[in-house]
This record gives sequence, C-alpha cells and structure tokens, in this order.
Amino acid sequence: MDAETDTAAVVTMRWTGDAVELLDQRLLPEQVVYVRCASAAAVADAIRDMVVRGAPAIGVAAAFGVAVEALRVQGRPDAGVAMEEAFARLAASRPTAVNLFWAIDRMRAGYDPQDPRRATEAMVAEALAIMEQDVAANRAMGAHGAALLPDGARVLTHCNAGALATAGWGTALGVIRSAVAQGKAISVIVDETRPYLQGARLTAWELVREGIPATLITDSMAGHLMATGEVDAVIVGADRIAANGDTANKIGTYMVAVLAGHHGIPFYVAAPWSTVDLALPDGSAIPIEERSAEEVTGFRDQHWAAGGVAVRNPAFDVTPAALVTALITERGVVHAPDTAQIAALID
Ligand code: MRU
Repeated sequence: MDAETDTAAVVTMRWTGDAVELLDQRLLPEQVVYVRCASAAAVADAIRDMVVRGAPAIGVAAAFGVAVEALRVQGRPDAGVAMEEAFARLAASRPTAVNLFWAIDRMRAGYDPQDPRRATEAMVAEALAIMEQDVAANRAMGAHGAALLPDGARVLTHCNAGALATAGWGTALGVIRSAVAQGKAISVIVDETRPYLQGARLTAWELVREGIPATLITDSMAGHLMATGEVDAVIVGADRIAANGDTANKIGTYMVAVLAGHHGIPFYVAAPWSTVDLALPDGSAIPIEERSAEEVTGFRDQHWAAGGVAVRNPAFDVTPAALVTALITERGVVHAPDTAQIAALID
C-alpha cells in the first residue's frame, strides 16, 4: 500500500481506474490520508487493519479489491486460481459484517476468467455499481427514517455509522443528515465508543465538519443522560442482522439498547438490505470478532492498563430484536421487527 496526503473534501473511497484509494480512518481526525490499494491482498490488509471500517464500507472496499485483482491477473493462465485466492483472502479479513461476504459473492457471480470482458471491465463496473447503490440505499434510508425523528430531537448514536462507514451519506448518521436536511433541529449525543473510539474520532469529526450540533460523552454516561431526560431517540447502524431482527453492531450497542428500553426511549437500527443475513434464524450464530488486547490496554502509543492483566476485546455484541423499536432499510421501515416482517421485505 502506498499512502498519499489529501486535504480535499472527505470521500471514504475512490476509484482511480487501476486502484482504489481508501481514506485511512486510523489517522482520523488528525490527518486526512489516502491509501492506494492495487491488489486484493492490499485491500484485505486495509480492511483487517481498520484503514477502512464500517459494514457497508467494508463491502464496497472488498468489491474494489476483487476488481483490482481481476485487472492485475488478467490474461494470466492461472487467473482463475489467483482470483479464488483473492476471494478467500478478502473473506478472511474480518468476520462479523455480512456486507463483506455479500459483496464478494456478488463479484464472484459476475467473474469468468474465460471471458475477457467478465474478467476485467465487468468487475470494475460491478464494484462501481455496488458503491453507487450503497449511497442510494443510504439516501433512501434517510428519507424513510427521517420521519421518525421529531424536530428538536436529541439523538444518541453509538460507533460510527456515517459517511465514513459507507460509500457516502451513512446509515444511522444518514438518517440524521436527512432529518437535518428537512430543516429539523436535530442534536446528536455521540458515544465515544471504547475501545477504538469510532464515536469520538469519526462520528464527532463528521458532525463537527457539517455543523450538526454534537455532544461527546463516554459510553458510561449514556444511562445518566437517559435517566435525566436528555435523550429522545437512539439510532445505530448494524454489521449483521439475523432473519428475526437480532442485530450485531459495535460492542456497547446492546447496553445502550437495554438502557433505552428501560427508559422508554425508541431504539432504531438503520442498515441496508445487504446487512441482513437471512441464513441465520437469530443472532446466536453471528460470529463475533475478537480483536487485540492492545486496543483495550491503550490507544496508539499510549498504554494505561496494568501489565499482566487478562483482557477481552469482543468488537461487537448482539441486540435482541425485542429491543429494536424499528428497523430502517432502503426497502422501508419495519416497526417491532420479527421474522415475518423482515421476510415480507424480501421482494
Ligand atoms: O469495527 P467497526 O468500526 O468496523 O464497526 C463498525 C460498526 O459497528 C458500525 O456501527 C456498523 O458497521 C454500521 S456502519 C454503517
């Protein structure tokens, strides 16, 4: 991967014709740097290392990973084998967000090493289509979901489900953006989202740049603000939604959902249909990524935990569907989601 500095307007990823450039989210909010990836291996590394993160963004990046690899190996006698290795390598990068596997499957379905067009330009066209469709889905979710947020609402969000987590606009943050675009005075309470600080570093950055009122809290403050009547709604994204509506999202989301339920505050999940995994009847089989101890014991070059202590770092948790007030997808809003209601969205 080559890096280059860029101070232009924020774009999560961009296609250059022979490579994909990913905004390096590890360096935000201090630096805006793009990482150039010209192979599936480079994209897989970027996903694993959190250069790009957020379920829809991971899926779109993986699609570009397939496209760059198809260009890289085109015409080689072993191109088909190389592409199978690329699919496997991309699929092994992160386990929880199903958008990754959805995008790889969609790209694989269009690939044919025997057909020069399906081995090259069709792959680029499909990746570009996946990127455009993600933005369109986010805009549609925004249109559906904005109606759920009243004028003046104080909305709590967890992690980053904004433009940075998608190809643009965002899911949960997209709904907030759409409500603001309608003229509503929305203010956002941003959970910092320990341990990787996606809320403090990424969501807060997006909101401040746009002038949407935002207040940062530590995750442990959410219950207090709900108890004192300072939260009107919660909206989060998702990494994988089972057929019954059980929702995997960033660690800490379940805690927020329980608190919202206790206080009678609506808890909304916004996610594209590519995040729904109909193969899993409920959330119990969703694979939960366990990340490194270093993310908990410190951050970047800072270390604060006592040496020798055991550490757990599950990166996601599962919120039962019963705690979800409504699921917002590009196909519409499902109140009190369950298996039957989600199945009704299939066509
Ligand atoms: O570990 P991350 O940063 O990839 O986790 C991201 C989240 O959990 C997001 O909330 C989720 O992917 C939804 S993004 C639209």
